[in-house]
Amino acid sequence: MLNEEIKQQLQSTIKGTIQFDEPMSRLTTIRIGGPADAIVYPENVEELQNLMKLALEQKLPVFIFGWGSNLLVRDGGIRGLVINLSRAFNEIKIVAEDEQSATIEVAAGVKIPALLDFMVKNNLAGMEYMAGIPATVGGAIWMNAGTPKGEIGNHVEAVTIVSKTGRVRSIEKKACGFSYRSSKLPAGSVVIGATLKLEKGVGDKIKTIIDKHKAHRIETQPLNVPNLGSVFKNPKKNHAGRLVEEAGLKDVRVGQARISEKHGNFIVNEGKASATDVLSLIGLVKDKVKEKFKVTLETEVKVVGTD
Ligand code: EPU
Repeated sequence: MLNEEIKQQLQSTIKGTIQFDEPMSRLTTIRIGGPADAIVYPENVEELQNLMKLALEQKLPVFIFGWGSNLLVRDGGIRGLVINLSRAFNEIKIVAEDEQSATIEVAAGVKIPALLDFMVKNNLAGMEYMAGIPATVGGAIWMNAGTPKGEIGNHVEAVTIVSKTGRVRSIEKKACGFSYRSSKLPAGSVVIGATLKLEKGVGDKIKTIIDKHKAHRIETQPLNVPNLGSVFKNPKKNHAGRLVEEAGLKDVRVGQARISEKHGNFIVNEGKASATDVLSLIGLVKDKVKEKFKVTLETEVKVVGTD
């Protein structure tokens, strides 16, 4: 819990919404997570800059989340500030184009489905495979989200961040350090947008490919129950889901957390699962897969907060 003085400072820094002691379970796709001291939705870059300065002055930890999908918040919740950009950082625009390609600027709060709609409407191709991913652009860039068919970092020309000290900086692709499901963007900074390069295409064809990816997801993933997205990174030349299935772990349960019958790399919340249940299940899967296949699974899911 924040003290009254800090609450007042926050309220005078931010015109946008602030929620105090709000359960993160309302904001994560697995519907798990203890209370955050304060969830803040800045309305513009300046508010975000002032927020970062306040956090630095008051030594408040800062955590940023996007869609809340690849995120497990422990049952004790999150101390300090939790920032979400999806209520205001929503702009997408074409900034340059030639016959073959276009460069777009996209703000961090844009959700991947909105970016895909923009691509269809503007005849832009190349990122259709992202239709599998529950993410905002900011979150997707931070962890270089993707599928076996590609990853967002491949399309990035530059990323704009607000640093820990509240400065706006542009970081060229080379300095972003993208690798499989990770980047080397400065720790503690907030991605506020990116410049992406896409190919020219034909809207209807782009939509057909997107729909095919969506259909594959609906067919293979348990999307109608609260879930974490992919729990583990795919190990080299293999798929975490396949290994979990071959280790006979589908349907295994701890409390009300269960390995999905539909996809082995998904954990679902059957009602009142706790983060502790999910973490025990993750530990159990790692141990069994290691024992059976000598493969160490690494989580793609980010685990945050206190017990
Ligand atoms: N498979 C099994 N058993 C299972 C699940 C999968 O044998 O229980 C096999 C499938 O038969 C297939 C292979 O594993 O041969 C790959 O499965 P899938 O097409 O579902 O892809 P994935 O590698 O498991 C990745 C992304 C997903 C994305 C899909 C879209 C990662 C870690 N995950 O999953 O992303 O939706 O591709 O095809 O790269 C996410 O990151 O949160 C996410 C949902």
